[in-house]
Amino acid sequence: MDIADVASDLSQALYSDQQIQDRIAQLATQIDADYADRADQDLILVGVLNGAVMVMADLARKLKTHCQMEWMAISSYGSGTTSSGVLRPLKDLSVDVTGRHILVVEDIIDTGLTLSYLVDNLRSRGPASVEVMTAFRKPEAIKCPVDVKYVGFDIPAQFVVGYGLDYAGRYRNLTGLGVLDPKVYAQG
Ligand code: PRP
Repeated sequence: MDIADVASDLSQALYSDQQIQDRIAQLATQIDADYADRADQDLILVGVLNGAVMVMADLARKLKTHCQMEWMAISSYGSGTTSSGVLRPLKDLSVDVTGRHILVVEDIIDTGLTLSYLVDNLRSRGPASVEVMTAFRKPEAIKCPVDVKYVGFDIPAQFVVGYGLDYAGRYRNLTGLGVLDPKVYAQG
């Protein structure tokens, strides 16, 4: 679905499908250049389920670097609109990452709690490197600063949906990104 399909649920459209795709393409070019001298082993992309499905699929297909796609699931909040701060590991990697170059792929960094937990967890496994790419970041909301090498867009600290980001399971399949109108979650 496009922004126009859910326009009445959004208080603001932030980025169109095309703007997001163009930015992901720029980051893919940068990542290709950065990993060009590390081609002895395939880069391991670690996507954070569920929200990172879209950015993982787009980034991976734009890369010219060989990569493997792996997934982890860590739940920080359920169907609400703010982070609870409670993390639950739900799914682990299926490969040994010792000595490997890892690029974590996230849809959004809100408080930074998820990423901080994840990066510490991955570093404890002895990888060659761990870097982070996120489609969106809310700078005002960061409580746990983590080094993020590749950022698609810095966005306001508002509740956004689309491009993998949901409210109560909906809007992940919205191709753009928008601010959810509070009337939608007031309805419950
Ligand atoms: C969201 C998002 C990030 C995390 C960011 O995941 O996908 O992983 O929250 O928040 P933080 O910076 O405050 O930790 P969520 O737990 O909602 O799961 P989902 O990806 O399945 O929607």
